Amino acid sequence: MITPWYHKTAIYQIYPRSFFDSNNDGIGDLPGILQKLDYIHGLGFETIWISPFFSSPQADFGYDISDYTDVAPEYGTMRDALRLIEEVHKRGMRIVFDMVMNHTSKEHPWFKESRSSRDNPKADWYIWRDRPNNWQSLTIGSGWHYSAERGQYYWASFLPFQPDLNYRNPEVKKTMFDAVRFWLGKGVDGFRLDIFNAIYKDAQFRDNPFTFKLLPSEADPSGFFRQTKYTLNLPESFEFAREFRQVCDEFGEKLSLGEVSGERDTLRKYLGGTENDGLTLVFDFEMLNFKFTAGYFRRIILDLEAAYPAPFMPVYVFSNHDRRRSINRLGEDVRKAKLLHLLQLTVRGVPCMYYGEEIGMTNLSLPRDTALDPVPHKFKFIPRFVFDLLGLTINRDEVRTPMQWDGTRNAGFSSAQKTWLPVHENSPDINVENENGKEDSLLNTIRALLKIRKLENSLQEGSLELTGNLPDNVLGYSRKFEGEKIIVLLNFGKHEKVFQLEHADPIFKLSKMDEIRGTLVHLNGYGGMILKG
Ligand code: NOJ
Repeated sequence: MITPWYHKTAIYQIYPRSFFDSNNDGIGDLPGILQKLDYIHGLGFETIWISPFFSSPQADFGYDISDYTDVAPEYGTMRDALRLIEEVHKRGMRIVFDMVMNHTSKEHPWFKESRSSRDNPKADWYIWRDRPNNWQSLTIGSGWHYSAERGQYYWASFLPFQPDLNYRNPEVKKTMFDAVRFWLGKGVDGFRLDIFNAIYKDAQFRDNPFTFKLLPSEADPSGFFRQTKYTLNLPESFEFAREFRQVCDEFGEKLSLGEVSGERDTLRKYLGGTENDGLTLVFDFEMLNFKFTAGYFRRIILDLEAAYPAPFMPVYVFSNHDRRRSINRLGEDVRKAKLLHLLQLTVRGVPCMYYGEEIGMTNLSLPRDTALDPVPHKFKFIPRFVFDLLGLTINRDEVRTPMQWDGTRNAGFSSAQKTWLPVHENSPDINVENENGKEDSLLNTIRALLKIRKLENSLQEGSLELTGNLPDNVLGYSRKFEGEKIIVLLNFGKHEKVFQLEHADPIFKLSKMDEIRGTLVHLNGYGGMILKG
């Protein structure tokens, strides 16, 4: 079986507003990404996923789209978008856009028309009801909002200004699939799919059943005493994944990566039948809340191996534009971050790294009252420490601060007087230029790992087997492909570990103190190694 490119690739996520500002208005843009393509290419990432840059009032910074086939002026022009696709391809890389299928902006002309009366041509393009039922939005509280103009309530799975499209209307489905075709026709290599598990809602609007559960979790999104039976993960949504895949297939081998949540066997359903005829990948967000222990990673690897055996492939992701930066879960300890990424780039799965994660960018603590992100304003009544205790970043501005390129003003992101979000005060230390110059920096470690990953087919597509009989808090696995074998060893403990292992030659060490002496492996605290068997 030939492994498709989208199961072998390494993904780098760009939040365009914060990556690089080419015209000094304080906001990152597409020409800015163009200028930094060689950086990403030089790092060794093969695929770029860009968060939305389409026309939008930016109430949710692009996740509220008002035209799916045009570019928001603050990010550039259609020509810039096409140039970006071309330049990415010139470098032998791939580019993935972010499709927000579930909802539009309230300012989208379709919604304006839909709400204008009960019998206009787009009256049924959104989900309207005379009276709300008990459904709750993903941001808590009723997701039904009253439109005085139409005298009815519309449904919004996320925030009130993001009305859900009605996919039970074939015209809506066709129009949205045509938007997908528009970009595929322009050469885009695939899509990341925003809240894909919310696409269909119950046709009969049945009330969601009661549950004792208070807080939602990755595996079970029900919470605040309501299940999500009739609002998330409907059988129609799994079928929709297959239809989406068929649209992609019209254009060749395209990546489709679903943002979904639920139990692992639910997530699997988005990937289709045994042949993987649905989405090509899904996020599995449990690991966004990872614990830094060998036991935790042993367990998650086993779970993902069981849930996504070939021809499926898991995705390993530790940060994104909605969640706490991974290094903040590690007490900002760079040694731990190196180990985490050693795992991410060698385990069987597609790694997905969030911009800045490669240099160890940290969350910036910001006041909630002045947040630009709309989400924290909904939760003003809950004190911050509650979120901190739960390990949640409610103000997503904190993880979206400008990329730290160098130690100059605004970290080299922009020469504007004011950037859209403040630059982190640690940028004189934590920046690309600085880390480029230090042999053992996180950045150079990730660059070296991506290089090895590219050279070794077994790391891209080999099978995975956990190694037995290792000391406490040491994790090991071997990857095998066509007679080749790679062994990876990771010490999650802070003390040195010494142990016996079959003969193999080290091709990568996290620190100079990780070494083979005679027949013994010496792993420094938080040390790690890649060996060739
Ligand atoms: C998930 C996205 O990742 C998030 O940033 C966005 O606010 C919501 N979906 C709504 O589109």
